[in-house]
Amino acid sequence: MVQPTRRRQNTFPSIGAIAVIAIFVCFIVREAFEGGWIDLTNIDPLMTTSQLSSSPDNVKYDPTSREVSFYEVGLETATDKVAAPGRLPGCLKNDASCTRPSCVRKECRPWGHFYHTMYQQKFGKWTLPGTKPFQFLEIGFFQGSGYDAYNKFFSNVKGAELHSMEISCIEPGPREEGKWPWGNFASKNSGYESLLKKNLLHCGDASNVTWLNEVYTTKLHRSDAPPLKLVVEDASHISSHMATSVFFWFPRIEPGGFMVIEDIQPIADANLFRTQFMPQIMSDLHFCGDPEFQDQACFPTLYPLLQSIHCEMHICVLERNEKSANYSLSLELSKPPPNALDLQKCYSFAKAKEISRKN
Ligand SMILES: *[C@@H]1O[C@H](CO)[C@@H](O)[C@H](O)[C@H]1NC(C)=O
Ligand SMILES: *[C@@H]1O[C@H](CO)[C@@H](O)[C@H](O)[C@H]1NC(C)=O
Repeated sequence: MVQPTRRRQNTFPSIGAIAVIAIFVCFIVREAFEGGWIDLTNIDPLMTTSQLSSSPDNVKYDPTSREVSFYEVGLETATDKVAAPGRLPGCLKNDASCTRPSCVRKECRPWGHFYHTMYQQKFGKWTLPGTKPFQFLEIGFFQGSGYDAYNKFFSNVKGAELHSMEISCIEPGPREEGKWPWGNFASKNSGYESLLKKNLLHCGDASNVTWLNEVYTTKLHRSDAPPLKLVVEDASHISSHMATSVFFWFPRIEPGGFMVIEDIQPIADANLFRTQFMPQIMSDLHFCGDPEFQDQACFPTLYPLLQSIHCEMHICVLERNEKSANYSLSLELSKPPPNALDLQKCYSFAKAKEISRKN
């Protein structure tokens, strides 16, 4: 946003001088980033722009790391996953320019997210040369800037196979007829045609489990495919769709893999996922099934496979344990159970007080 200024022209140096200085500063900053002088991986999200350019000492910097920086590839591909640190300072100066003005929590105000810290921490190791090939699936390609970021992030992994799903590239037409009326967002990506040809971009409704199963069994779970290790849910952010993704994909991820769920923020669409699904899976993580303690798991198809849950603001990562993937899970059991978005329907929550009194 351009701010109106009341200062008189003659108090400014000439426009030409400003332009020359600006170009020089841009060049230096660009060199610093591309030359690897500054590693923004561990950037303090609240750091202001002036701190960034004037005191690089404040940026935690590990010159020995050979990991690809998710923050840098995210900036290069302009994904919203890492857009918030750069936008926060301007948004704090001018609240009206924020996407969510006046949020009590400042980090919620700017457009974009701070997901680089999570991606670096969990998957930085997977970017090193010599990493065994794996299969990756993103749900929600949209215009592909996230996909492009993952592609660069994992570019050193020979044989890595990166898939994505998108609804907007289905046949155009009315939604009632199962078609898409709002334009093909995916076709804006320069790799669109090639991804389709390579069977890496799958056009369809990722909340339709029958279709998911078709794609999984014919395009992903092939005998010559590397193991499915990472699934990222970044699609409609409608709670029921988010739950569908977890219940279908988590049991199909190979041991030691991960499911990333993005955009668990307080918005109408995603709210039940945050307030109803997340507490249940957290409860299940600690489930024992002690016969002396009348408890029940909320999600019987998920908890036996769950190693850990790790969340930062608006992003959670579910880790798969060492148990093998369940390829034979029925389609019925691959759908969200009735309690998925209603925690009072889970015994542990409905009976929480009684359970603790008995024991
Ligand atoms: C779900 O996907 C299947 C397989 O692609 C398709 O035949 C079916 O029509 C879809 N159902 C809906 C409701 O779109
Ligand atoms: C797959 O899931 C079903 C239903 O939860 C379960 O009965 C079966 O034992 C599981 N199989 C494996 C190999 O985990």
